[in-house]
Amino acid sequence: MTSKTKSAPSKGKSTAARGNGAKEQKNKLLSIRDLRVWFELRRFGFGRAGYVRAVDGVNLDLDYGEAIAIVGESGCGKSSLMKTILGINDITEGSVTFEGRSLESMSKEDMAWYRSQVGYVQQDPFGALPPFMTVERILEEPLIIHGIKDKEERLRRIKKVMEEVKLTPQDEFLPKFPHMISGGQQQRIVIARAMILEPKLIVADEPVSMLDASVRVEILRLLRGLQESHNLAVIYITHDLSTVRYFSERILVMYAGQLIEKAEVDNLLKKPKHPYTEALLAATSDPDGANALHFKEVPPGEPPSLVNPPTGCRFHPRCPKFIDGVCDKLDPPEFEPEKGHFTYCWLYDPEHAKKSA
Ligand SMILES: Nc1ncnc2c1ncn2[C@@H]1O[C@H](COP(=O)(O)OP(=O)(O)OP(=O)(O)O)[C@@H](O)[C@H]1O
Ligand code: SF4
Ligand SMILES: [Mg+2]
Repeated sequence: MTSKTKSAPSKGKSTAARGNGAKEQKNKLLSIRDLRVWFELRRFGFGRAGYVRAVDGVNLDLDYGEAIAIVGESGCGKSSLMKTILGINDITEGSVTFEGRSLESMSKEDMAWYRSQVGYVQQDPFGALPPFMTVERILEEPLIIHGIKDKEERLRRIKKVMEEVKLTPQDEFLPKFPHMISGGQQQRIVIARAMILEPKLIVADEPVSMLDASVRVEILRLLRGLQESHNLAVIYITHDLSTVRYFSERILVMYAGQLIEKAEVDNLLKKPKHPYTEALLAATSDPDGANALHFKEVPPGEPPSLVNPPTGCRFHPRCPKFIDGVCDKLDPPEFEPEKGHFTYCWLYDPEHAKKSA
């Protein structure tokens, strides 16, 4: 229905910069500023059909070795954001900077280097692995592409990474094809492939949602272990808040193409600020039976259209705390009601607090 677009929409169409968009942070591994990724709707006839605003004004900084989770309901733009970081989606507006180098200005050679620095763990391991390649061939390919000519050196690195993802004895797995191993083992291969070039960042997009419940925790622990032992930065994408505790330090909540709350894990889970995060938390299935009583419906109402998003706060048509005349008119800027806890919601405007006192 839609196609990618590189042509930037005119500035007039974009909403204003959200939050800390102005200055790029120095010494960050990854810095994202006012990022917009819009997909053009395929036109019929001469009319302009519009854009799907999958990512619409995102700002994000990631430290070396930091693990963050991005959560949000289906269709809010999580994968679009990740694919942009991975260089798969084109940037419509804004910037993605890795170790001070902007993605958009990278040459072909720079891009090859960048791809070695950022590993990708997909949601569906079977779909991610080429069915006609053995485990050895799958793991050898990135090494060949990145110029490791010595076969013995390649095998040494393959065996080392297999040990790290606990796929042993290696000789037993090397000649196997993906269909000959379990889903959990396939995901270990995907993680090994993402790790083999010793990246600084791993992007894991719903890495356990297609696996049996019995192996999900093991895979999350494996990722956490690798993150710690290699001082890896990890961006973990999920719509399941109950799994983020396993290895994230910060949680960022996404809604309708925008980040609407950012805080350290405990702070966000115990004291959510944004009404959408509150609703999301109440709806989260928690493996801890003690929390089962808190199960509730997801925020009532449909997620908004990303082609014509609501004016003002995008959550306002579903928000139980909606402030008439404000939330439906003005896009909320970033507020910091507690140190290090950021939210985009008019309830945290000091002026609003004064008026309602
Ligand atoms: N290549 C594309 N072309 C056109 N539209 C796209 C493309 N990729 C994503 N979209 C649209 O962008 C919006 C966000 O999709 P995205 O896959 O990023 O959401 P998500 O948060 O990852 O959802 P889920 O939790 O279901 O994986 C959706 O409306 C989707 O249809
Ligand atoms: S800005 Fe208004 S509509 Fe949006 S979440 Fe806050 S209270 Fe609700
Ligand atoms: Mg997705």
